[in-house]
Amino acid sequence: MQRVKKAIIPAAGLGTRFLPATKSMPKEMLPIVDTPTIQFIVEEAVKSGIDEILIITNSNKHSMENYFDLNYELEMRLKEAGKNDLVDLIRQVASLANIHYVRQKEPKGLGHAILCARTFVGNEPFAVLLGDDMVVNQGKPALLQLVEAYNQKTCSILGVQEVLHTEVNKYGIVTPSREVKDGKKLFKVVDMVEKPDIDKAESDYAVLGRYILTPEIFDILSHTEPGKNGEIQLTDAIRDLMVHQPVYACDFVGTRYDVGDKFGYVKATIDYSLRRADMSKKVKDYIKELAKNFN
Ligand code: G1P
Repeated sequence: MQRVKKAIIPAAGLGTRFLPATKSMPKEMLPIVDTPTIQFIVEEAVKSGIDEILIITNSNKHSMENYFDLNYELEMRLKEAGKNDLVDLIRQVASLANIHYVRQKEPKGLGHAILCARTFVGNEPFAVLLGDDMVVNQGKPALLQLVEAYNQKTCSILGVQEVLHTEVNKYGIVTPSREVKDGKKLFKVVDMVEKPDIDKAESDYAVLGRYILTPEIFDILSHTEPGKNGEIQLTDAIRDLMVHQPVYACDFVGTRYDVGDKFGYVKATIDYSLRRADMSKKVKDYIKELAKNFN
């Protein structure tokens, strides 16, 4: 069995939901307190045993590449100022993983972005992490739960959780096979639809930005026609993959934030600051104070 050693992080979106901030900076660099969202995603891959990472970018993403590189001038200045702890902090970022980049030249959708990773991945299973979905838990990272499911089933694994029925039209929704019993955390999938109408969804299990895919997906993607919103959809290609290979869903454990959404971003920021030893008390006291004036 081949192990999962590589991960793809698509980051070529325009970030329209965060304009005007994203007019001149990539949305992946928006920080949760002091850490860009993309760093949380890279760290999840690394904690899941993967340190060869390909980020799919576009022409507006230089600051992200600089972020994961060394910055000698800043290091020198920090050293001169005696701030060696900060030197260590910025160095750590540059040594997190082996990060590679490839550009998606046209915004043709998630499926097209993944196809740009074909040469990097070769003929191996690989992980996909979407930057808008941040998952936090005290135990195993979400991606590691999928990797373990892959090691058990040796087929493509989709990271899912149940979402509110009124929100199924925001996600790729899977149809579990009939043998699924309540409470099963790993189950076979027989169909998948990108952003179905609420009254047509077959379940409330939504794919939340984590995938392990077998390399056969690339041939399929190279023939996938534009689907929902005129984009080449990864969901449509996975649906085709199911005809040839089993595909499983892993109902992973963890709190997931949609940091591509303004309210999701604020929630992630508050929760993260409450978990930080250097901020927790101040933030709690502030929220208590604020809450006194809530109706
Ligand atoms: C993408 C996928 C969708 C998935 C979602 C998770 O949609 O196409 O299947 O459920 O990410 O966040 P997007 O949010 O990029 O429109």
